[in-house]
Amino acid sequence: MSISLYEKEQLFKLDTKNTSYVIGIVDEEKFLGHVYYGAKLKDHHAGYLMRVNENPFVPSKNNRDRVSFLDSFAMEYPAHGLGDYRESCISIRTMQGNVGLSLNYVSHKITEGKTSFRNLPSSFGSREDCSVLEILCEDKTTGLQAVLQYGVFEDVDVITRSVKVINEGEEPVYLTKVYSACLDMDNKDFEAISLHGSWARERQIQSVPVSHGKYSVESIRGESSHQDHPFMALKTKNATQETGEVYAMHFVYSGNFKVQVQADQFDQVRMVMGIHPTDFAWRLESKEEFQAPEVVMVYSDKGLGQMTRTFHDFYRKHLIRSEYKNKKRPILINNWEATYFDFNTDKLISIAKQASELGIEMLVMDDGWFGNRYDDNRALGDWFVNEEKLKGGLKYLVDEVNKLGMKFGIWFEPEMISPDSDLYREHPDWAIAIPGREASLCRNQYVLDLTRQKVRDYAYECVAKILRSANIEYVKWDMNRQLSDIGSAELPADRMGELYHRYVLAVYEMQERLIQEFPHLLLENCSGGGARFDPGMLYFSPQIWCSDDTDAIERLKIQEGTALIYPLSSMGAHVSDCPNHTVGRVTPFETRGYVALAGTFGYELDVTKIPEEDREMIPEQVAMYHKYNDLVREGDYYRIASYAENHYFDCYGVVSKDKKEALYTFVQVLNRPNYHSRRLQLKGLDPEKVYEIEGEEGTYTGEILMKAGINIQNPWGDFKGKLIHLTEV
Ligand code: DGJ
Repeated sequence: MSISLYEKEQLFKLDTKNTSYVIGIVDEEKFLGHVYYGAKLKDHHAGYLMRVNENPFVPSKNNRDRVSFLDSFAMEYPAHGLGDYRESCISIRTMQGNVGLSLNYVSHKITEGKTSFRNLPSSFGSREDCSVLEILCEDKTTGLQAVLQYGVFEDVDVITRSVKVINEGEEPVYLTKVYSACLDMDNKDFEAISLHGSWARERQIQSVPVSHGKYSVESIRGESSHQDHPFMALKTKNATQETGEVYAMHFVYSGNFKVQVQADQFDQVRMVMGIHPTDFAWRLESKEEFQAPEVVMVYSDKGLGQMTRTFHDFYRKHLIRSEYKNKKRPILINNWEATYFDFNTDKLISIAKQASELGIEMLVMDDGWFGNRYDDNRALGDWFVNEEKLKGGLKYLVDEVNKLGMKFGIWFEPEMISPDSDLYREHPDWAIAIPGREASLCRNQYVLDLTRQKVRDYAYECVAKILRSANIEYVKWDMNRQLSDIGSAELPADRMGELYHRYVLAVYEMQERLIQEFPHLLLENCSGGGARFDPGMLYFSPQIWCSDDTDAIERLKIQEGTALIYPLSSMGAHVSDCPNHTVGRVTPFETRGYVALAGTFGYELDVTKIPEEDREMIPEQVAMYHKYNDLVREGDYYRIASYAENHYFDCYGVVSKDKKEALYTFVQVLNRPNYHSRRLQLKGLDPEKVYEIEGEEGTYTGEILMKAGINIQNPWGDFKGKLIHLTEV
């Protein structure tokens, strides 16, 4: 049992293999206090950490200064409006216009095993894997209840948190903020790590010192976004990949979010995470419930590396569901960078023919196969096959590709509508827009109002009908603009504040429908590259397109940031042609292959047109993928050197769980004079085991490889890479 209640001390203790989390109930009013999160405790007597005895303002002793108590006590789930002036987790507006509430302990329930939420992506685990604690709290004045939900995944060292709000009052109430998790702690000279970026530059790691005031990372773009990521880790100042403490939160959600750390007047810090309150107001009728999305919390006292490996294991075991999650994915070739909109059946078949001879296993037909879609200015919504381009129809093309021994995949952007489309001409009100105001275009398109059932059904049927019409085994689900002009022709005025969240729920509902109807489909999510690379989407698709930037060197940073939390098995990564279409850089074909090996692996080029010497390398790369993908997909990830930090070279490794095999990828970005070799200390090996390095004489103990290191001979030139493969002797 990983959840214990100590009645006498009024403490809950949640234990995983290496961590403990303690919650206390204090005072006559039964406030819920946060006691401890950190390295595993055998002893539960930690209640003194709540400082109730030191606090002169505890309401039962001194109600004169209740505000001072509320503003300093380490709260488990702080509510707005009664005197806690730090960032609260929940705020409401009653029908009388009042805002305050206080959520105090009523009862609790402990159960074994965890199922996902009904309409939201979330983690799952068997009775052996996970225990669940639900603490029911109530605001006596309004009757509003909050069930604080904790999933304790003992073996993988993860605690999940969320909250379900229930309106037990007689009247409706507006929820104007509902975060999912809060962590109140003393400041340990923390630095906040987060992931920032832009189109083609997603998830770059940033670290800033936590100081007084608030530092937040957020999206109000209707998706998790290129720009920011629903993740934050607080690390102690000198923490490294191997040492120091890290407290991380990651949000299983794909829409507007906010994660914030605040250092207060007493040098305490509060980290919160949840749906962004901007433009959010959810009308909760009497007896209705609102389920907030889940937060995944990881504590590591072995630095960032251990945090990373914990997230990887957790997502591989307890979030991703696809039958592909533990399988090698077919090596695909996607025609986007090969042809853009300029293709037809013959061109695709000639690419497929050449690709199949080289060992590539699937052709993916990207944007441009439907309606009047000759460029990106039109036709989204008109999901019928363009027979001018695809002579003989879609089934003919798919069958021809299948005859070559290849699978076939297709691209959709089901959430969008172009103003120049039959769909828009027929249903202009189906676009999200503020009535009476011309909506802002982005990539010349609008977003469909998927909160309306009939719009959702139409969009879903368009996709499903195509999939039913031929042997299509893969879908790339794209989304190429952010939401703006928030307005719906159907939602009443007092529910317009629900639109952002309802939109995300609608996307989830459509994707759930898709994977239920086509359970063997390989789904890859995408959003103008990696703008919706988040745990919410991972629940539906085992892989997500990382970025539209396929340049091997830019990818080092993008993939380092992504792999900080996501398993390599989820990162869409392809070899593309040079000069690279985004940055114009020329890199060796070989290096492009090494970098793409860190992800799902595939090609994004016209294989009939690339230089002969590059084409000749493809069978070797295909063999390399087949040789190493099991290890890459399932191994433990170790970051050894970061190009983003040192500006010269990059190195990471994957080590099998039994430590019998390891693969390290080294990329020298810029060569330097007089550097003949670099000494790198490998990581993750068993010090007692003896290893050989493929292609080299001699054997080495894991101990010497990790403590003393190996000399990697510097390749001649820039952008050169190499693989170092170790096996136990
Ligand atoms: C954005 C994606 O990231 C690209 O790979 C490609 O599918 C385009 N959209 C197509 O419009």
